[in-house]
Amino acid sequence: MQPELHNIVLAALTMAGIFATVVRMPSGDASDAGPKGPATQVLGTNDSRGEALSFGPPTPADGAELWNLARQAGNLDVNSRYAYLLWCRDFASTSVVARDTQGVIAGFITGYRRPEAPDVYFVWQVAVAPGFRRRGLARTMLDHAVHRMRSNGVRFVETTVTPDNKASMRLFESFAEANGADLTRDVLFSERELGSGHEPEVLHRIGPIAGPVQMLDGALPD
Ligand SMILES: CC(C)(COP(=O)(O)OP(=O)(O)OC[C@H]1O[C@@H](n2cnc3c(N)ncnc32)[C@H](O)[C@@H]1OP(=O)(O)O)[C@@H](O)C(=O)NCCC(=O)NCCS
Repeated sequence: MQPELHNIVLAALTMAGIFATVVRMPSGDASDAGPKGPATQVLGTNDSRGEALSFGPPTPADGAELWNLARQAGNLDVNSRYAYLLWCRDFASTSVVARDTQGVIAGFITGYRRPEAPDVYFVWQVAVAPGFRRRGLARTMLDHAVHRMRSNGVRFVETTVTPDNKASMRLFESFAEANGADLTRDVLFSERELGSGHEPEVLHRIGPIAGPVQMLDGALPD
């Protein structure tokens, strides 16, 4: 996915009216960011020892680990470490991390509600660590993210996928099918716009989602 992160962040912050004009020195580094957000145990998505993974929002202390996972995952446009730290601070409530029982991050979804279309949840990046793939983890994280967003009026899910990314395409098809929602595809950013031989980014739009999110493993999230 092409993030254009700084533009997105600046646009979102500006739209939200919270773009700070006062610069303060930080009181500490991201690892001081306090307790982790509420996490939910979900049965059925387990680590290699068969123990349940837990799902919850990231904190800035997770930013470096998300950045590392993005670099390892392949297929992602990797942004700066700073970008992931900032994301974990300002878009935590619209993002999800999956942790094993040791607290290691097995996967993440970063996303945001579009400032000019708040009923749309835009998924920016999804990554699952290689050892956790093909077990429904990405689907379960997406289920969690959208479930959390439904109570805020979200009815549509958008993302962009490059045409070569079959796994990602199947992930969003699977989510649309499970929720009985339409999925439309249309080029959002062309190769010419993206430059540097980047494949086109195809907008996948899913919705409307009418009822509660149909969880892959039937678990009841938070
Ligand atoms: C894409 C990615 C997040 C999928 O994670 P995952 O946890 O393995 O996906 P899931 O197990 O939840 O599978 C979701 C669906 O995709 C299908 N799928 C997963 N990997 C696939 C692959 N390599 N080829 C074809 N289908 C695949 C699954 O079968 C499932 O479909 P189903 O519901 O019909 O069974 C993971 O492969 C990854 O991190 N890739 C690198 C980063 C990336 O490309 N991110 C997406 C773009 S932002």
